[in-house]
Amino acid sequence: MKTLVARSLKYQEGVVSVLDQYLLPHQTTWHICQSVEEMAELILTLKVRGAPLIGLAAALLVAHLAEQGADKEALAKAIDELEATRPTAVNLMHCMAKLRIALQQPNWVEAVVSTAESLFEEDIALCERMANFGAELVSAGDNLLTHCNTGALATAGIGTALGVIHQAHAAGKNIHVWVDETRPLLQGGRLTAYELSCWDIPYTLICDNMAASLMAAGKVDKIFVGADRIAANGDFANKVGTYNLAVLAKHHNIPFYVVAPVTTLDTACPNGQAIPIEERNPLEVTGVSGSFGQCQWAPSNANVFNPAFDVTPADLVTGWVLDSGVYDQEAVSSGALLALN
Ligand code: MRU
Repeated sequence: MKTLVARSLKYQEGVVSVLDQYLLPHQTTWHICQSVEEMAELILTLKVRGAPLIGLAAALLVAHLAEQGADKEALAKAIDELEATRPTAVNLMHCMAKLRIALQQPNWVEAVVSTAESLFEEDIALCERMANFGAELVSAGDNLLTHCNTGALATAGIGTALGVIHQAHAAGKNIHVWVDETRPLLQGGRLTAYELSCWDIPYTLICDNMAASLMAAGKVDKIFVGADRIAANGDFANKVGTYNLAVLAKHHNIPFYVVAPVTTLDTACPNGQAIPIEERNPLEVTGVSGSFGQCQWAPSNANVFNPAFDVTPADLVTGWVLDSGVYDQEAVSSGALLALN
């Protein structure tokens, strides 16, 4: 496989390695990944996370195993096992489906390797395109709000929603970003704050429950979020808390955009109710952990509900910023997404 280098995933000199997103920003640790078990563990523990990145990391590992001489049966099993790690982000299913097709080719080793390479390179191009479309929606001096982490750490390129923010800043639009900390796993507080610092983009970190009063005070001009799966009718799943923002945005008449590549579309899924929502370990809600260790504050027998994602209905979305352009309510309700995948 050729050398492939992204912000948090690389293939170099015969080695797949990933940047540990659970330890950032205070610890920069790269893990070498050589087996399905290792990659599955990295994905399950969110050391590797973000819809596009999960699929790409799994694909690079499968291609690496193919090059190392794994047989077809072992690769088919690897694809199945990696696909089962996280149920909501459809990019993983998209990548694994492409690899299954490659495995059926007569020259299947080359086909698997070139498929993984193309998926990686395609993601860089998709990020660039949607970021440029999205940046056109941003006006000079805008205060933007975002949720979770959708940047270069979560993709092979510059990101989805955070990619838009990056391009708007690069275009000299003098923006400021409100960053939701994003409980329970704090992807906003840990990763988005870190990426914006690295990019020198002015931002202010807030707890998730502070967004409403900021909107009421007129301090949020536009909201950009990513997606883990977009259904045919435009409903979409993203990090839990996204739906709250969409409802608040509607109430305060604030434009609310979802930014995602075509690989996040699942037109076989008719609407948001059909999107499987991952439920995670209660310990993520009863406390918090990271590079600093673990801290638990709730009673150890507390009942916990911990869905990792929620679904935002299409009627709350102002625009779907995709790599092929920006789609409005009218386009999406007349089936524009169906034509795309
Ligand atoms: O659980 P995570 O951290 O993988 O969830 C990530 C998100 O919800 C992102 O918003 C989404 O994957 C889009 S990332 C480009």
